[in-house]
Amino acid sequence: MPSANIALSLLNQGQQLHLTRTEGDVIFDALWLRERAPDADTLDALTGQRLIEAAELPLNLSITDATLESGALKLVFSDDHHARFPLTALMTEATAHEVRDDLTLWTSESWAASHDIIPSTDFATALDDDDALLDMLDQLSRFGFVRVSGVPGTEDGMKALIHRIGPVRQTNWGGIADVKSVANAYDLTMTQRGLEPHTDNPYRDPIPGYIWLHCLCNAASGGDSRLVDGFNAAEQLRRQDPEAFASLTEVTPGFRYHDATTRLESEGPLIELDSRGCVKRVRFSNRTERVPALASETLRRYYAARQAFYRLITSDALTLHLKLEPGQMLIMDNYRLFHGRSAFQLEGGTRHMRQGYVDRDSTASRHLLLRDLRHTQKATA
Ligand code: OGA
Ligand code: ZN
Repeated sequence: MPSANIALSLLNQGQQLHLTRTEGDVIFDALWLRERAPDADTLDALTGQRLIEAAELPLNLSITDATLESGALKLVFSDDHHARFPLTALMTEATAHEVRDDLTLWTSESWAASHDIIPSTDFATALDDDDALLDMLDQLSRFGFVRVSGVPGTEDGMKALIHRIGPVRQTNWGGIADVKSVANAYDLTMTQRGLEPHTDNPYRDPIPGYIWLHCLCNAASGGDSRLVDGFNAAEQLRRQDPEAFASLTEVTPGFRYHDATTRLESEGPLIELDSRGCVKRVRFSNRTERVPALASETLRRYYAARQAFYRLITSDALTLHLKLEPGQMLIMDNYRLFHGRSAFQLEGGTRHMRQGYVDRDSTASRHLLLRDLRHTQKATA
């Protein structure tokens, strides 16, 4: 970043540093800069973890001198600490929370316009090649899902690829578990019913991060998959009906799963926002939702809002239809995507899916590591 385009000034007796740039001004707080100083007295060189006690820094700490030198910001603080910040990294941090250009919100029209080319990868390639695995994780984080082909047709066929990312979550159903119609089903997923667009298991804590759904056999008539971008649905609701949107961010229904050996209960809003007001997680599980007996007025507002949201997430305009074939699987972001299936009739054949959950942190960790690896390789090429 050319330092020539940047002018520095101190505000509020040095408690803030003002950078004037052509791309837009940025103001840094002096305490923030002090506790993040990238030097071996402040941060451990090996782990990057903080060595000083940030909560003990004087609240009136200020910057006494600021200069730019060879792409770095040189600061002197009122506690006589000197620090040097690489400017590019600092700017990346300062603007990271402003834009969300890492997500592409989609509708059914998006895929029709791209000739039905949906996010896809090949199992063996992603398994063997870091670049292909990174592409797979890029697509997953951008669109919220990816279809993988060429998955081995064995019961735990997807396991090898899961293990490139992290452990399979163990639940009361085990690790990789069956999704098929059985007698005396303990869950409606294990019947021939259609499933409304839903997120999986909002009664768990934490809620499963990613769903890996592997098709061994889908010869029954029906049983095709439906995917909806929940973030896009939430944004549409925000635009169309702000009051409904607000209600779904405020009311926190409970979710419940009970069987002979398990009692799982949790709660959370259908639309959950982060501190910036961006949608960070959606929930919808008609089967397991139990809204508390709130004041009638609150409930009425919630029911109207839930209905408006339901109409959106079941609309053709937002729904991607596909039918998984044997040897294919879907990886789905369970914090963003709604997924469902149409009812199936076993007279037409058998239907056998296998499903496992993988946590968000291990998935994000592999993604970041592979990104760093690609950057390093590019830089040294
Ligand atoms: C589920 C589910 C999808 C399918 O079990 O929660 O969404 O295609 N199953 O059976
Ligand atoms: Zn599901």
